[in-house]
Amino acid sequence: MFIRHETIEKNAVLLMVLTVLTISIGGIVELVPLFTIETTVEKVEGVRPYSPLELAGRDIYVREGCYTCHSQQIRALKDEVERYGHYSLAAESMYDRPFQWGSKRNGPDLARVGGKYSNDWHYAHLTYPQAMVPESLMPRYAFLATRPVDAAKVARHMRTNRALGNPYTEEQLANVAADLEAQADPQADPSDVQRRYPKAVQAAGSGRVVSEMDALVAYLQVLGTMVDFTNPANENLKQ
Ligand code: HEC
Repeated sequence: MFIRHETIEKNAVLLMVLTVLTISIGGIVELVPLFTIETTVEKVEGVRPYSPLELAGRDIYVREGCYTCHSQQIRALKDEVERYGHYSLAAESMYDRPFQWGSKRNGPDLARVGGKYSNDWHYAHLTYPQAMVPESLMPRYAFLATRPVDAAKVARHMRTNRALGNPYTEEQLANVAADLEAQADPQADPSDVQRRYPKAVQAAGSGRVVSEMDALVAYLQVLGTMVDFTNPANENLKQ
């Protein structure tokens, strides 16, 4: 037995081939069932694809590299749950392409930041974080307020997401520009956009032009709010 093993140890190529083979078998055993089981990501009541404005905000979040300082994944550990709320469910990021779990926390986790602050707080904080939290080391994003969101680009992004499996309906795809504006303008009637995207939070835009700041705030305000953990239907998700 040991003599045979010596042959392997003395032959680098053979050792490598056998190592790769062993690891592959382990990997296949762990991974393949996940691709075939339909319930890898359990569907949870309330989780929906992003509204046009939220999706635009998510793009800005990715473009500006917010994930380099903020995670969006509350782990099932007591201290995390006490600080941030219910641990993150796989379903909550099922329409995220790519997901924003992150691995760095220079700032707090943002998975459930939705509803924690008012819109005004977010606008002021993104413009000049140190005005809200004097010791903050977060950079300023005031420039987002003057950059417009391009509705045609958001519509293309939604179509691409649909091709990848996000269930946007024809009605949702036909109303991108209207929904974008209605959600950004606090004076507009939000009933249509909220029917198409339940729990969509209206941003506090100027009403004249939809800015990247409006989009980012709408995105932050929906984070972690889609699943209602007080609903008895979600009893099984309780910790
Ligand atoms: C250099 C690291 C860094 C980057 C980049 C960064 N942040 Fe922050 N962020 C922080 C820190 C530190 C805090 C905590 C202090 C504060 O509230 O300003 C914070 C706090 C926050 C909060 C408040 C969270 C809470 O629960 O109190 C939000 C919301 C937020 N950031 C959003 C963003 C967004 C959106 C971006 C990208 C446009 C971003 N951050 C980029 C470091 C960063």
